[in-house]
Amino acid sequence: MSSPFEFSPVKLVYGGEALGFHAGRTILSPRLLPDERAEVEEIRRQKGVVHVRPLRILEPSPERIKPFCAYFGSCGGCDYQHLPYEAQVKAKAEILRETLRRLGKVNWEGSIPAHTSPAWNYRNQAKLKVRADPGGSPALGFYEAESNRLIPIVACPIVSPRLNAVLTALRSGPWLSALAHCREVEVMADDLDEKVMLTLTGSWDAPEEESLAQKLLGEIEGASTVAFTRDSAMKVFGEPHLVYHVEDIAYRVSPGSFFQSARFLLARMVTAVAGMQIGGVAMDLFAGVGLFTLPLAMRFEQVLAVESHPQAASDLAANAGATSRKNVRPITATTFDFLRRCAQMQPDLVVTDPPRAGVGVATLKLLLNLRPRRLHYLSCSPPTLARDLSFLLSHGYQLDSLELFDCFPQTYHIESLARLSCRG
Ligand SMILES: C[S@@+](CC[C@H](N)C(=O)[O-])C[C@H]1O[C@@H](n2cnc3c(N)ncnc32)[C@H](O)[C@@H]1O
Repeated sequence: MSSPFEFSPVKLVYGGEALGFHAGRTILSPRLLPDERAEVEEIRRQKGVVHVRPLRILEPSPERIKPFCAYFGSCGGCDYQHLPYEAQVKAKAEILRETLRRLGKVNWEGSIPAHTSPAWNYRNQAKLKVRADPGGSPALGFYEAESNRLIPIVACPIVSPRLNAVLTALRSGPWLSALAHCREVEVMADDLDEKVMLTLTGSWDAPEEESLAQKLLGEIEGASTVAFTRDSAMKVFGEPHLVYHVEDIAYRVSPGSFFQSARFLLARMVTAVAGMQIGGVAMDLFAGVGLFTLPLAMRFEQVLAVESHPQAASDLAANAGATSRKNVRPITATTFDFLRRCAQMQPDLVVTDPPRAGVGVATLKLLLNLRPRRLHYLSCSPPTLARDLSFLLSHGYQLDSLELFDCFPQTYHIESLARLSCRG
């Protein structure tokens, strides 16, 4: 298949690609839609699947639209700009359903309501790379898909206006040379899109850090925190953390701590995940800085919140300490270690929001010893959700609802909430 060939995909699959068949082989292509005809060329074979790239569209799908961003197709950040937003959401719901069925034998026949977001400027954070361009000068941007070749970026339409303004400022000559020692610049804006926390990863020496931090804080509009990380060490200048409000709760977020990036969906996620119950005991596993812990504390008598990352755990403890009811027990541990040591108690609700690897069967086995009455599983990875749901459904739980939070418009990423209850 080394010469170009004609290809017509049959469906979109998890990962952003379109799948189809040609000459008895499974083909995967980015940036194509079901039923359109395109000329494609092979780029690699992996586990019997032929990965191709589209050369030209011969017959477009009626759904196809012109991508908004000039970098679409080269920058590795977005996958679906050629599909209208409503169609992206519909496709994601079906991809979720199919992934659960194919990988977990979980046949969810019910509806999958979607919480949609404005399709642009929705991210409150971005991770920019710094690399030398072909001429040897430092450049700022994102990686090309599946490579570490840098695409220098002027603006990114999925990040917030404030972050685009920071990006524009940092791209100007003097800053780029000052950032030449940097490998990565992470920027996060607060809920008002005013204050910005910058986290720079690279090799620095102490005097250079101090003067660069003071310059960034003084000259980049909105910059309120500048952190330097090298290996596992971190040095912070300016305000020690960002304060992010969701509804009327203020969360402290330090450099290095996880925080959700979908600025328009946070309040709806909190309401859906924390539920309605008043009274009883809740656990928040993989709690981060406590995004769900604090709302749970308003609804339950006691909340145990577990987080293993040192910075996030310290934010969690501070955020928990600031609650008026003082009914949160923040625990710095891995979920596995916490559950291994956990005394016999039956929580009314367990919220679990793991990284992409999912909770995993070993940890779920420990969780099942507690027999929680209800389980709210927020997932950013349908394949690991499929594995974990499959285990839970064969161990006494039923799936009551499945919802999609479109936290990542224009990309293939799928965030979903599965609500389960104990059958026994
Ligand atoms: C997807 S984030 C969710 C955080 C929080 N629920 C939120 O929405 O902001 C996952 C969190 O789990 C933490 N984490 C990763 N592995 C963990 C483990 N084995 N045990 C406990 N926490 C872990 C990460 O540091 C991160 O804060």
